[in-house]
Amino acid sequence: MSKSRIVITCAKGISSYLQEEILGLGFPILSEEISSIGTEGTLEDTLELNLLLRTGQRVLFLLKEFKARDPEELYKKVFGIPWEDYLSEDGYFCVTSSVDTETIRDSRFANLKCKDAIVDRFYERFRRRPDSGPERKGVVVHLYWKGERGLVYLDTSGEPLSKRGYRKIPLEAPMQETLASAVLLAAGWKGDGNFINPMCGSGTLAIEAALIALGRAPGLSRDHFGFMHLKGFNESLWREIRGRARKTAKRPFDGKIIATDLDREAVQAAKRNAATAGVDHWIEFGICDYSETPVPEGAGIVMMNPPYGVRLGDKQRLEGIYKGMGDFFKKKCEGYEGYIFTGNLDLAKKVGLRTKRRIRFFNGEIECRLLEYELYKGSRKRPSYRGES
Ligand SMILES: C[S@@+](CC[C@H](N)C(=O)[O-])C[C@H]1O[C@@H](n2cnc3c(N)ncnc32)[C@H](O)[C@@H]1O
Repeated sequence: MSKSRIVITCAKGISSYLQEEILGLGFPILSEEISSIGTEGTLEDTLELNLLLRTGQRVLFLLKEFKARDPEELYKKVFGIPWEDYLSEDGYFCVTSSVDTETIRDSRFANLKCKDAIVDRFYERFRRRPDSGPERKGVVVHLYWKGERGLVYLDTSGEPLSKRGYRKIPLEAPMQETLASAVLLAAGWKGDGNFINPMCGSGTLAIEAALIALGRAPGLSRDHFGFMHLKGFNESLWREIRGRARKTAKRPFDGKIIATDLDREAVQAAKRNAATAGVDHWIEFGICDYSETPVPEGAGIVMMNPPYGVRLGDKQRLEGIYKGMGDFFKKKCEGYEGYIFTGNLDLAKKVGLRTKRRIRFFNGEIECRLLEYELYKGSRKRPSYRGES
């Protein structure tokens, strides 16, 4: 099987974590952008990337790069791709795009041109044409068209990889699974010690922390990927890759993962999500105010993602919560590393502790910070760190 360029997209600002993961799987890094990493491999390599990457969003396999000055030229170039090698004439496909070119304003027109080119090619050769539509339930074709440069990819993920398949019950303001993973990697969580997650909401951080601690592949709970619809999909290789991933998912973990929230419904949802992800036995859940969360003797990470006002809660109440988090860290979390993930830096000042690191993230369009507090036993003055904002 021949190699091609593979572009793996991710949420804005987390590409350095994705890069580490890709290197860890033995793939080269060919480019790095704010929300994607370029590598190379075969179409079969995309199976492993889809199953194992924690911070990637879509795994795009390049079929063709070309010059297209207008929609007619785009049609011709897309028509020239041997679609019958990837798609069956009775199959289904969907076209998505990212378009920034002067010749058209509406990316839906570019999608339509691609779709027409694909079905016309089939009709010309077989007098039959595959179905197409907006749902990502079959082969997904992705067009990137910027200026005169066009690139056509197979989106081998189909649905974005942040949809792990375990979040059955959505709540307000959940963290995206891929972002939660990046935040945990930024905190250096590898499963050493305990992971304490007050204000757990739907449990994303605790579930991702358990998956990392156990070495469990994030894609194991998902039963659908775009590559499964490609002609010649190697099902036995897929079974083999999944089997291998299941075996490595048995890493011993002797720490505790504790997740609590004041909201009973949130805890119920988190429990069910954890059960779907297959990690409920590894997480102790509780309904309580964050300040009552049990913190076992020992060391590890205490991580909180409090409401930050933009979408949830009101300012005064939130100021009280943030101040209280500082007290909770000081009184109950000595010896741990404390983290707060928030999109509200004014509120974060109320914590009243000096930060050791401030790492920038984006939750959708909201600029956020992961704030690290080192909670030494006894009080100790620490220097502030440079190069972090
Ligand atoms: C931004 S959400 C957390 C989202 C979570 N990271 C997820 O992915 O679903 C904040 C959570 O804090 C909880 N919360 C707010 N005030 C609290 C308090 N005083 N004690 C415990 N939990 C609280 C809310 O119920 C909500 O679930």
